[in-house]
Amino acid sequence: MTKTRRNRAWYGKTDRDGFIHRSWMKNQGFPDHVFDGRPVIGICNTWSEFTPCNSGLRELAEGVKRGVWEAGGFPVEFPVMSLGETQMKPTAMLFRNLLAMDVEESVRAYGMDGVVLLGGCDKTTPGQLMGAASVDLPTIVVSAGPMLNGKWKGRDIGSGTDVWKFSEAVRAGEMTLQDFMAAESGMSRSKGVCMTMGTASTMASLVEAMGMSLPLNAALPAVDSRRMALAHMTGRRIVEMVEEDLKFSDVATRASFENAILANAAVGGSTNAVVHLLAIAGRLDIELSLDDFEIGSEVPLLVNCMPSGQYLMEDFAYAGGMPVVLKELAPLLRPARTIMGGEISAYAEGAECYNDDVIRPLANPLKPASGVRVLRGNLAPDGAIIKPSAASPHLLEHEGEALVFESIEDFKANIDREDLAVTPDTVLVLKGCGPKGYPGMPEVGNMPIPARLVKQGVRDMVRISDARMSGTAFGTVVLHVAPEAQAGGPLALVHTGDRVRLSAKDGKLELLVDAAELERRRVAWRPDPPRYTRGYAKLYFDHVMQADRGADLDFLVGKDTRPVTRESH
Ligand code: FES
Repeated sequence: MTKTRRNRAWYGKTDRDGFIHRSWMKNQGFPDHVFDGRPVIGICNTWSEFTPCNSGLRELAEGVKRGVWEAGGFPVEFPVMSLGETQMKPTAMLFRNLLAMDVEESVRAYGMDGVVLLGGCDKTTPGQLMGAASVDLPTIVVSAGPMLNGKWKGRDIGSGTDVWKFSEAVRAGEMTLQDFMAAESGMSRSKGVCMTMGTASTMASLVEAMGMSLPLNAALPAVDSRRMALAHMTGRRIVEMVEEDLKFSDVATRASFENAILANAAVGGSTNAVVHLLAIAGRLDIELSLDDFEIGSEVPLLVNCMPSGQYLMEDFAYAGGMPVVLKELAPLLRPARTIMGGEISAYAEGAECYNDDVIRPLANPLKPASGVRVLRGNLAPDGAIIKPSAASPHLLEHEGEALVFESIEDFKANIDREDLAVTPDTVLVLKGCGPKGYPGMPEVGNMPIPARLVKQGVRDMVRISDARMSGTAFGTVVLHVAPEAQAGGPLALVHTGDRVRLSAKDGKLELLVDAAELERRRVAWRPDPPRYTRGYAKLYFDHVMQADRGADLDFLVGKDTRPVTRESH
């Protein structure tokens, strides 16, 4: 029995409502026959000039449309909120869930049968996936693609990663301010997302490993004409997916999330992938917990890209991209379906590596173990994470005295004081930067090293917080401590001078203070008053879950695939 297409409830009626739905669309010049029941494909676009990473998505939308028309569908592009990571205050992460709501409600409210998600910049991909998952139509991702390699003074520089290095060099007096300012232009010299393996390229790589995009979607540069061809082919494929009734949840299964975790380790992906994958899985009612990320901790680091390695995404593309990684990971990958209808193993068929220093074979990895290590203990009862491949090996087993900053303002005001009581063994502890505390869980976990230590040549220290860090960042940084300080987690109870022990090997994060003293502190502790009392930020504060639940809003977990029954006027 042929399933009645969803769009018929909008465009298939002969009554007044059908007239209205069709007639107003016809003001754009669409002829009668496009309303004949063919698949209506929504093209969900996060293009914005305030999101420079996604500024190429207008052209890519045209590519998708070509493919949809060619395959006999009817493409309709629509905008959703765009999240410019480098431009939004207080932090783009605060708005990831708002984008997800925008996507969910738009996809549900309009008469589409399938949707192509056009995203790229860090929070746009997960926000779009979360929203689309909750409606569960046939769905494919087309990513914006990375910028060309940064170039400055004759060498390659990587977005994000080199910014952190340059700013530390300026603080250490090793780089002039003029050089620092001049590097800006060379770093971002084409459209596209950060060209390191930051969160954007990580999420695009994981989308490909989950089979939610066509092969090569992650790495092809934004300005490479093959990306336009990929958009075109995506348009063709989404029409077929509607005809096959191959839904989001048919592709995004528990197995494909496990493949994403394995791939995240192999590419040296961002720690942000943890909160995003947890949130997307939550929308699909897939049981995925922080502990599931441990399957990645034994996976070798294969992709030699910044921040864990030396190359950039353009090099990764020319070396063969994700299909080569999936070929190497074949012995580990779980059988899982893709948007092509076949198995994920098909993505690796015929893949050839053209530079085995950029994509290492399993037998010769860049590092023997990568992935994210989950930490637990009395300082993080619900977990915390660390990315060992981006950390200093000698600090992964460490005990030291805490130097506590109660907020990011406290940190900024005091970190560069000449009289700061700090040594290279000190553990920097930052509170108030979790989902509720900031709010929005900003990327401040890779706190700058105190200036007086930078001048002594210190470039890494153990740092602990309830914040996130940029996917382009590095260091021995413990992140996502849950529960966060603002929610009354033990992080709130740490005092300067307390001893803290980190063991990445044992997965432990301990505050070496006796239980009775901690209980005394707990009784005396009071949360800060909420920073925002109106609008979306209040909604977020009241409903956001902790990092171990993906920092989604509690009422958005799961999906609603029921037909929309009430008319819109
Ligand atoms: Fe947009 Fe890095 S800031 S991808």
